[in-house]
Amino acid sequence: MQKALAGQIALVTGASSGIGAGVAKALAEAGAHVTINYHSHAEPAEKLADEIASLGGEALPVAADVSDEDDVDAMFKAVVDRFGTVDIVVANSGLQQDAAFADMTLADWRKVIDTNLTGQFLTAQRAVREFQRRGPRPVSKALGKIICMSSVHEVIPWAGHVNYAASKGGIQMLMKSLAQEVAPQRIRVNSIAPGAIRTPINQDAWASKEAMDRLLTLVPYGRIGEVDDIGRAAVWLASDESDYVVGTTLFVDGGMTLYPGFADNG
Ligand code: BGC
Repeated sequence: MQKALAGQIALVTGASSGIGAGVAKALAEAGAHVTINYHSHAEPAEKLADEIASLGGEALPVAADVSDEDDVDAMFKAVVDRFGTVDIVVANSGLQQDAAFADMTLADWRKVIDTNLTGQFLTAQRAVREFQRRGPRPVSKALGKIICMSSVHEVIPWAGHVNYAASKGGIQMLMKSLAQEVAPQRIRVNSIAPGAIRTPINQDAWASKEAMDRLLTLVPYGRIGEVDDIGRAAVWLASDESDYVVGTTLFVDGGMTLYPGFADNG
């Protein structure tokens, strides 16, 4: 059987670890050639590229700071030089720099907004320009697909994390406004909003039994998410199977956004 993303070219930002690495691997398993962007850790990105190659795929690790315009241009140039163009762009790079509001520095605020929100702006903008430059390709019904990695915190307020929650709330309207603007060009823009996924970013929330028990009170489905849960969602959103899905946030969160605190209260 033909793989869902056969012949397509993908770029995943922030793909050297966590959700980004899981998404890059899942796209490669679905038949895409994948560019693995990383910021500072070349080694895990190269390891992932080798792993993808050993499964018969093609992967290119590329360093870039997604909040830097010149870096993002150079990253797209590297993708086009190697693969000719790109069909699927996953704007995934993100970080947390948590602090109580009164103690949060301007640097904490800027770092998170620059990477999580401005990084997605720059990545999505260069993706749109590349889709427009090269025109339609027979590998996909859409001219191109952009997937923004959001979070349940695009709708769930998060004390102690105002920079992060603000960045994800911003991604919600960046994604929808962009989706509305470019849908007539047959560019599909959607988001994935993961809940608690087992990655290094939230290790404190799952590494001990006490923390995990506390976390699971927030997850009606009763388990933590794995990067594969997000990888499978990304493959679907990138494929023609979801061709009529435009401007939507797909929550992959075990029900975290169902307000579980109200199950026996209120
Ligand atoms: C955050 C994680 C957190 C999860 C659920 C994610 O966006 O990065 O640290 O565990 O949301 O609260």
